Amino acid sequence: MSDNIEDFRTKTWWNKRVDERKGDLKNLIYNDDYRDQFWGRVDDLLSSMSKYSAIDIGCGYGRFSKHFKDYLGVDFSDQMLNLALKENPDKKYAQLMCCEELPQRADIVFEVNCLHSFGKTREEFIGFYKQYANVAVICIERNGVVIEWLYPQKDNEKNRLIG
Ligand SMILES: C[S@@+](CC[C@H](N)C(=O)[O-])C[C@H]1O[C@@H](n2cnc3c(N)ncnc32)[C@H](O)[C@@H]1O
Repeated sequence: MSDNIEDFRTKTWWNKRVDERKGDLKNLIYNDDYRDQFWGRVDDLLSSMSKYSAIDIGCGYGRFSKHFKDYLGVDFSDQMLNLALKENPDKKYAQLMCCEELPQRADIVFEVNCLHSFGKTREEFIGFYKQYANVAVICIERNGVVIEWLYPQKDNEKNRLIG
């Protein structure tokens, strides 16, 4: 399979990936060796937010759904979503492109290592999804994590952190 960056951005590429690797979940999304250190920290961060409802954009097979009781996984690949439903049948999913309108809001909206596939910058991702988040929009990428905390502006009270 070609690793051309343009291919990563197509549903066909991701559907084919599932066909080829669905029996090997550990290597379905990535097959590199930063897994243990990096993914351990991602799990720590997301599990520290488990009290929140969450929307995971580019959810893949929903491996982060375990951290949330109230979780909506969003992905454009029907194959990924079928697998996600099989792996985590108690969670909700929606087949949508990044930056399509969402059917609901949640406390946090996040993505993990998807910006390159989405062809979006952090600013574009956060700028679009903050309308759907009550507490924060989070970009988790290999080169850093950005958490945009959102502030309520009711009763003329600004800049008060919630959560
Ligand atoms: C690198 S994987 C990351 C999956 C998941 N976040 C994880 O870390 O396990 C990228 C995921 O984003 C999905 N995806 C890629 N481009 C997309 C787009 N434009 N809109 C919605 N989903 C997309 C792919 O189908 C794939 O499941």
